[in-house]
Amino acid sequence: MRFYEKFVGAYIKTSTLINRRDVVSKVSDDSMTLVVRERRVEAHDENVISLVLVDPGGGELPAWRPGAHLDLRLPSGRQRQYSLCGDPADRRTYRIAVRRIPDGGGGSVEIHDTLTVGSALIARGPRNGFGFAAPGFGSPSERLHFVAGGIGITPILPMARLAERLKLDWTLTYTGRSRDSLPFLEEVESFGDRVTVRTDDEHGLPDAKELLADVREHSAVYCCGPVSMIGGMLEVLREVTDVEFHYERFSAPPVVDGVAFEVELAKTGEVLEVPADRTALDVIRKSRPDIAYSCQQGFCRTCVVHVLAGTPQHREVTLLDEDRERGEMLICVSRSAGGRLTLDL
Ligand code: FES
Repeated sequence: MRFYEKFVGAYIKTSTLINRRDVVSKVSDDSMTLVVRERRVEAHDENVISLVLVDPGGGELPAWRPGAHLDLRLPSGRQRQYSLCGDPADRRTYRIAVRRIPDGGGGSVEIHDTLTVGSALIARGPRNGFGFAAPGFGSPSERLHFVAGGIGITPILPMARLAERLKLDWTLTYTGRSRDSLPFLEEVESFGDRVTVRTDDEHGLPDAKELLADVREHSAVYCCGPVSMIGGMLEVLREVTDVEFHYERFSAPPVVDGVAFEVELAKTGEVLEVPADRTALDVIRKSRPDIAYSCQQGFCRTCVVHVLAGTPQHREVTLLDEDRERGEMLICVSRSAGGRLTLDL
């Protein structure tokens, strides 16, 4: 067995050396280093840039499907998720796009201001929380309708490209403030008649019925956009049968049926009031601006904290029973089951 282990160990080392250009630079089991190979401005208002990311050694990258995202650890330590918007068939590059949000959590500004060609960063994934099942290939639907709001085009673009490649019956409504604010506009319009571009400055604010005008029975609708847009579409589709609705928001969902509670930050003794319509993360960020968070939707685990006293009301499906028993809580969505929560912060 010792001889066998030595032989296998030596074989793996040699094989890794020989093939090192094809081995992604792993920094832990599911992390990898990526390098920015290209940086481009993608919207005429210059608020959206795209980055093409590659393995530093030029190796193949893990495969992905439309709807997938990367978890990026930025040089400051912030973690953020970005949808992959390139071509899944290209195994040597990932493309992401980032809208600059000056009053956001600082992640997009950091990317715009500091990441240039040659910058390296740590990534995890790709992971997919917005799976795409094409009609005839896993979905009983017969046709597709995509709706994208501004930067929400990023997960939709690879879906539309795949639908076109599979010769499916599909349409896309692309909406935003103005044509200047829409990233990848030329790329999207290259699909021709399938695409309708409607902007607030030319057509007024979008109405959910108008965004769903192309939807008939046996359709699947895929939408990525602001919370208000998705909320309006959910209302309309509640009345309709035989339509699948898949969506991804790019901001925190509204708090539903919230009750006010207090959180105590154990290390300082500070007590903060969380109103019924806000999240604990939202309130804690005001006094701890450096607190880690990312998705604000309860799936990335970045905001996990330990509860030292009190009973949380878990409002996510990400933590396992063991995590909860250890006292973990995702403060971007979960709340108190009653009374004050003391957090290990
Ligand atoms: S910020 Fe992603 S789970 Fe809370």
